[in-house]
Amino acid sequence: MDQVARIDSVALLDHDMAEKNLSGYWRLGMEGLPPHPMTSVEPCLWKWADVHESLVRAGEVISLEDSERRVVRLVNPGLNPEQAFATHTIQISFQYVKPGENARAHRHTPAALRFVVQGNGAYTTVNGQQCVMEPGDLILTPKLTWHDHSNESREPMLWLDGLDFPLVQALHQVMQERYPERRQPIEKSSEKVRDRLGASLCHGIPVTEFFHYKWRDTEPMLRALAQSPTARDRFDGYRLEYRNPQTGGPTMPTIQCAVQLLTPADQTEAHRHTSTVIYHVFRGEGATEIGERRFDWQQGDSFVVPLWYAHRHLNRSSSDAAILFSMSDVPVLRALDLYREEAC
Ligand SMILES: [Fe+2]
Ligand SMILES: [Fe+2]
Repeated sequence: MDQVARIDSVALLDHDMAEKNLSGYWRLGMEGLPPHPMTSVEPCLWKWADVHESLVRAGEVISLEDSERRVVRLVNPGLNPEQAFATHTIQISFQYVKPGENARAHRHTPAALRFVVQGNGAYTTVNGQQCVMEPGDLILTPKLTWHDHSNESREPMLWLDGLDFPLVQALHQVMQERYPERRQPIEKSSEKVRDRLGASLCHGIPVTEFFHYKWRDTEPMLRALAQSPTARDRFDGYRLEYRNPQTGGPTMPTIQCAVQLLTPADQTEAHRHTSTVIYHVFRGEGATEIGERRFDWQQGDSFVVPLWYAHRHLNRSSSDAAILFSMSDVPVLRALDLYREEAC
């Protein structure tokens, strides 16, 4: 009898409290918090063939008059499908701009970046700076910078979009504005800004308009790094981060970008960390073990390593290097003093 009376009184209390917008901690049903961070984000791999086919089909049925952007988003099955996010902090999508097209100018609070996958000669304009795109280039459109994309070349242009959209949305800070004209005027080229950069750094002049990391700068540095065995990281191979030239800090306040090279037949050691990483295979073929699963990848594929999952990378080729581009939310974790990592 006593047991029934106690359950009835708890149920009644819960009911009465709910009417007053109150809730008892006991309703969580937990015996304590988990011993390590937990996420519903699932390890997941998207094949380039599937992404590419969807982009090409979208090119047939979606015009840039109907949609602000022709973008295919990668969706994590562990998250709410309505939101169509790949992780809880960073979104990855692919964008397709056909010859002669222009994706109109706008700006928004989510910060974005482009990593060029295919095509030559189209350009993104960022705050009046024209950034002509070549494969492997990384172009930043930080929070509230005006940006539009134009393809005046003869070939389709495809690139990866990374945004901190899920994080900004979780903070209820999403907003967007359209530029008064479809295209913003071009005032300078990213090549000129790049040429000035070295002198600016030497003379301590702040560089606030650096948006464009050229692959022709990145690749030689990565290859040179790979010549030095002592530079090899046992968890990531040869890894080069895209740093903000003004601060020396992360690429953007919310996203750290990097490229890493795995030498032929290389196998890294397993570790785990509280940051979540999205990878895109720029060159080569290999596999990544994430938790209990193995994901085989080749050029163009993308995959997610969720937080606190043990993971290691393997280059399946015995003759060619593999190169992975990555985006991580580690700057956010570090800013909040929540970053941890350990070998497994
Ligand atoms: Fe945008
Ligand atoms: Fe890692």
